[in-house]
Amino acid sequence: MSNLIGFLGNAYPWVKAAHVTFVIFWMAGLFLLPRFYVYHHATSPGSVEDRNWIEREARVRSIILTPAMVVVWILGLALAFHIGAFGQHWFDAKLLLVVLLTGYQGWLGGYGRKLADGKRPLANKTLRFLNEVPGIATALIVVLVIVKPF
Ligand code: HEM
Repeated sequence: MSNLIGFLGNAYPWVKAAHVTFVIFWMAGLFLLPRFYVYHHATSPGSVEDRNWIEREARVRSIILTPAMVVVWILGLALAFHIGAFGQHWFDAKLLLVVLLTGYQGWLGGYGRKLADGKRPLANKTLRFLNEVPGIATALIVVLVIVKPF
């Protein structure tokens, strides 16, 4: 894949700008959805409020989370090929965190389906703790890409 190095040409900074923009959209959704779940937890299954939260959550997933994640991945991989990032430790560590974040989003989708089925499997405290995952991941990823500590 080393023949792709530099393939973006002058578009590189534009692709990077678009990448960061969609990262912001993606993270906005990842901060929002588990917060919605905390409010949703407090409603009784089958109530009007319950149905409203199910609807809001589905919208955040389909309008923000899924499209933003796909665009971030495509642009991020394009940047990675352009600069030949694979094998550099900061990038491999970032990739691992982003894969975990993508998995977290998958888990959120599954939890949303349980809520929609009237289940409330997690304690509120655990759910609030899990709310911190995207924030911690963001801080670590930004240090990896900007400071490149290794
Ligand atoms: C989905 C997979 C992702 C891939 C493959 C990816 C890959 C990359 C690459 C290769 C760069 C260029 C680095 C450079 O030019 O030095 C970059 C830039 C950046 N990425 Fe990602 N990224 C991804 C997701 C994310 C996420 C989730 C965040 C934040 C939470 C993020 C934040 C940033 C930032 C802030 C920059 C700009 C760094 C700079 O100004 O040099 N990226 N990304």
